[in-house]
Amino acid sequence: MSHSITTQPAISHALPNELQGRTVVIFGGTSGIGLAAAIQANAAGAEVIVIGSNAERAKLAAEEHKLAGWRAADVTDSEAVYAALADIPQVDHLVLLAGTFVAGKVLDAEISYLRQAFEERIWASVHAIRALGDRLSENGSITFISGSLSDRPNAYGTAVLGAASAAMEALARGLALELAPIRVNTLAPGPINTPILSKAMGEGRDAFITALEQSLPLHRLGTATEAGAAAVFLMTNTFMNGAILNIDGGSRLI
Ligand SMILES: NC(=O)c1ccc[n+]([C@@H]2O[C@H](COP(=O)([O-])OP(=O)(O)OC[C@H]3O[C@@H](n4cnc5c(N)ncnc54)[C@H](OP(=O)(O)O)[C@@H]3O)[C@@H](O)[C@H]2O)c1
Repeated sequence: MSHSITTQPAISHALPNELQGRTVVIFGGTSGIGLAAAIQANAAGAEVIVIGSNAERAKLAAEEHKLAGWRAADVTDSEAVYAALADIPQVDHLVLLAGTFVAGKVLDAEISYLRQAFEERIWASVHAIRALGDRLSENGSITFISGSLSDRPNAYGTAVLGAASAAMEALARGLALELAPIRVNTLAPGPINTPILSKAMGEGRDAFITALEQSLPLHRLGTATEAGAAAVFLMTNTFMNGAILNIDGGSRLI
């Protein structure tokens, strides 16, 4: 009886698309999930530029973590977005995480406030991508943010934010074809313990976390480090494209 040996292509010990010397721009990289992704990409050798609306926070984040640079720009202001990107010659990985927790019921909240959910996500992303144009590397990636709300709604005033999050996932899928071979993916976090919770809930933050933790499969929120690592995975794995990566500790299952 003869034995045939199955051949397979060489398996590399390295990540498919290492970050050494690559330029990574992270909108929303000055805090929380984006800052964690920035720190990890920087540790992997990337030139990381972080962008937030608050100049002081952006400068501090870049200095403290020895990042390549920082910019201050409100992503809802298209001119500011263009200006922030004007002097960056080439971007390998663009990450668009900037956003606030826009919570308000459709019958009660100001329309201008609700509109912000889309301005910060959909239109900010469109402006950033148009501003960079062919300065986006063909062998690079774009990573958007959505969240569990996109397919797990609740009755607490998050319908519009959920709609904006779901729209990001649809935009990513469309752009994965329109901008190919640039890869476009969406990170969909569940509850992650970042400064956004204090910003949204103020003093109610701790009580909210305690109540939520009891209902979660892992009995805890995720960390910025865990969510940031998922963003880095989307940048570096060269076969991730048009995908939604859930990082939620299984919270979508309950
Ligand atoms: N944490 C969660 O549980 C969770 C779950 C699902 C989705 N998300 C989404 O994940 C993203 C990151 O959230 P996070 O939890 O890391 O929050 P975070 O710590 O509050 O970070 C938000 C980042 O976005 C920036 N930002 C907000 N509004 C901006 C604007 N108009 N222009 C420019 N930058 C702006 C902030 O900078 P400045 O403070 O300087 O403006 C900061 O760098 C958000 O879009 C959020 O909706 C978070």
